[in-house]
Parts: sequence; C-alpha cells; structure tokens
Amino acid sequence: MPQYKIAWLPGDGIGLEVLEAAKIVLDQLNLSVEYLRADIGWEFWREEGDALPPRTIELLQKVDAAMFGAVTSKPVKAAETELVPNLQGKGLIYRSPIVRMRQLFNLYICLRPCKAYPGNSLNTKEGIDLVVFRENTEDLYAGVEFHPVPEALSRTLAGLSKPFAAFSQLQGDDYAMSCKINTRRGSERILRAAFDFAKRLNRRRVTVIHKANVVRATDGLFLEAAREIAKDYPEVSWDEANVDAMTMWLLKNPLNYDVLVAPNLYGDIISDLCAQMVGGLGFACSGNIGDRLAVFEPTHGSAPKYAGQNKVNPIATILAAKMMLEWLGELEAARRLEQAVAAVIQTGEVRTYDMGGSATTMEMAEAVAGQL
Ligand code: NAI
Ligand code: MG
Repeated sequence: MPQYKIAWLPGDGIGLEVLEAAKIVLDQLNLSVEYLRADIGWEFWREEGDALPPRTIELLQKVDAAMFGAVTSKPVKAAETELVPNLQGKGLIYRSPIVRMRQLFNLYICLRPCKAYPGNSLNTKEGIDLVVFRENTEDLYAGVEFHPVPEALSRTLAGLSKPFAAFSQLQGDDYAMSCKINTRRGSERILRAAFDFAKRLNRRRVTVIHKANVVRATDGLFLEAAREIAKDYPEVSWDEANVDAMTMWLLKNPLNYDVLVAPNLYGDIISDLCAQMVGGLGFACSGNIGDRLAVFEPTHGSAPKYAGQNKVNPIATILAAKMMLEWLGELEAARRLEQAVAAVIQTGEVRTYDMGGSATTMEMAEAVAGQL
C-alpha cells in the first residue's frame, strides 16, 4: 500500500498544465504516493451546478493532503448564465471552491513563503527570504455583509455606536457594510503557527502586522493575542508593525524581515507584495493548512488567456509540491526538490516567458526533474 494518499485537483485553465508539470517532477522523486484525481472547477459548475461536488469533498476527507491547480471564478450573475439550460433558474449560487475548501476543512493557515532564488532576474533584491502567515477563515473575509443595509441593523447600531450617527440617516441601498470579524481563537491559532514555525526553524524574527491604532477593536484583539502568545516563545524575537508602513519598509528593506503574520486581508495584500519581489505569480506558492488536511496550490488563478498553450511558469506549482512534501514530513525529498528548482533558476538556460525566455511549461518541468 502506498504511504500517502494525495488528492489531485487540477481544476481548469492553466491549472491543468501546471499540475501536469508538477507531476513530472514529483514522479522523479520516487515516493510511495497514490494520487487520486478529483473533480473541481468551472466545468463542474456549468454541468452540475457545483464547482466542488460532494464526491470531491468525500475524497478530501480520506487523503493526507491535496494538490490544487486553479479554477475560474465569476461573479454570481455571470456564473448563472453559463449553467447548462436545465440548471438555470433553479437558484443555484456560485461559490468559489477554494474558499469553500478553506471553510469546510478549517484550513486556517495560509502559508506563503517568498524566497528570492539566486539568479532570478525578476528578484527586486537578492537574499529575500520571507514567510507570510495569513489568517485564512475570518476577518473581512467572514462573509457577513449587507447591501442594502437592513433597517433592523441600522436601528440597532444607532443605539450602540456613536460614530454610527454619521450613517444612520442613509437609505439602506445607499451604503453597504462588510463586517470584519476576528476571534480570539482564530487570532491565537495563526499567531501560534507563526511563532511555532519561527522557533522550529530557528528564524530570526516574527513581525505581527496590524492597524490597531485605527481599527481598534478587531486589530486590537489580534495584537493583544500576539502579546500573550509571544510570552510562550521567549526564544523568538518579534515586533509589531502597521500594515501601511509595512508595505513601504518591505519594499525598501526586505532583508530586515523574516516571518510575517497578519489577519486575512492584510495578509492577502502583504503576500502579493512579497510574491512580486521574488518573481511574481510564476513563483508564488501557497499552502492552505489545517490541523488535519492541507491543500497546496500556486497562488495564481486559471489565467484563461494562456490556457492550453503550455506556456506559463510551473515553478510556483512545483514549489507548492515542495511545501506539500514538508507538510508530509518528507523533508529530504522537499530539500532535494527545492535544490533542483534553485539549480534551474541559477543556470538560467531554461526560462519561461515571464522570465524572459521561451521555454514551455513542460520543458521547465523536465529541466527541474533532470536535476533530481
Ligand atoms: P491569474 O492569476 O489567473 O492570471 C493573471 C496573470 O498573471 C496572467 O494573465 C499572467 O499574465 C500571469 N500569470 C499567472 N500565472 C502565471 C504563471 N504560472 N506563469 C506566468 N505568468 C502567470 O489571475 P486573473 O487573470 O485575475 O484570474 C483568472 C481567473 O482565475 C479568474 O476566474 C479568477 O477568479 C481565478 N482565480 C483563481 C484562483 C485560484 O484558483 N486559487 C486565484 C486567483 C484567481
Ligand atoms: Mg490574493
């Protein structure tokens, strides 16, 4: 029996190609793995009205980890018009399958390492080695939103909040509200994950990102949780930084930073900035990690304009596979895989279009596999 079961979720668009490329590389490592291909993405929305069918959810309950390519997502109304005729008008509502996986399996850590591999001409600076821990289930992404704002809510808030007086006379349709909800538990577990990581891997520092001077309730709670958690890690040095200032400092002095931890929205923004500093979407990998399941993916989407062209850079997905190996505890295989990627980048002979070359997706994968 194979040692690991991995759900294999290509999705659609370039998701198909980048996972095929990652498979070429993984196969070269000769691990004892069974890859179980499963349905996810736009095609299943159109034909079944569900981009994450129940059979895929069932499979995810039985695997050690999952590799995910990318899926196309469209706004609710546009999505409905693309359903096959017999599913139209049935009240089906499109929901992003990756967001659903995060919620269903409580994948509360979004882990995004951003490393400048030597020789990559897209690096903004050599030596960047950042690891972002983004909270993945709450904050402004909680989904508690109102437009129009119901009368009952407006009346309640008028009685509870002084600053709300400025909005209380508005008609429901003339304003909208998205609730930023941060829990102590949600904050503590992402903070603990970041501090644990820093301790285990002997990293230099954890920087806690917030905007508690303005967003006092939610970010105040996040910061309060950080100060408590930090006490459990006396050996890890840490500091706090405002998210706005952080974007400037990161761009100016990226080498001053190491492990970053943030609530969902700030983490989303900061991780895109970090990814761009080390080569952009062709290099950005992420892990959606819970206590039992983890789903690894390139950060990019389905890039429809490049779909089927065997053209995009598979390195982001190959690095996501490396993260998966680390999560499985296959540290030696992960190290070899990363070394192979680093060697191909350093040599610079095989480069996809985003790196200024003309190599195909599969040629890049073969080059990495060839280093193993
Ligand atoms: P995208 O990430 O798919 O592509 C944007 C652009 O980035 C591409 O046109 C291309 O120029 C570049 N790019 C992306 N991946 C690359 C790679 N591997 N190598 C080289 N260049 C690469 O974002 P876009 O176009 O905004 O979204 C397309 C679709 O993907 C949408 O339907 C969106 O909702 C979905 N999406 C899905 C995600 C997921 O599956 N996790 C994440 C982000 C977007
Ligand atoms: Mg993003």
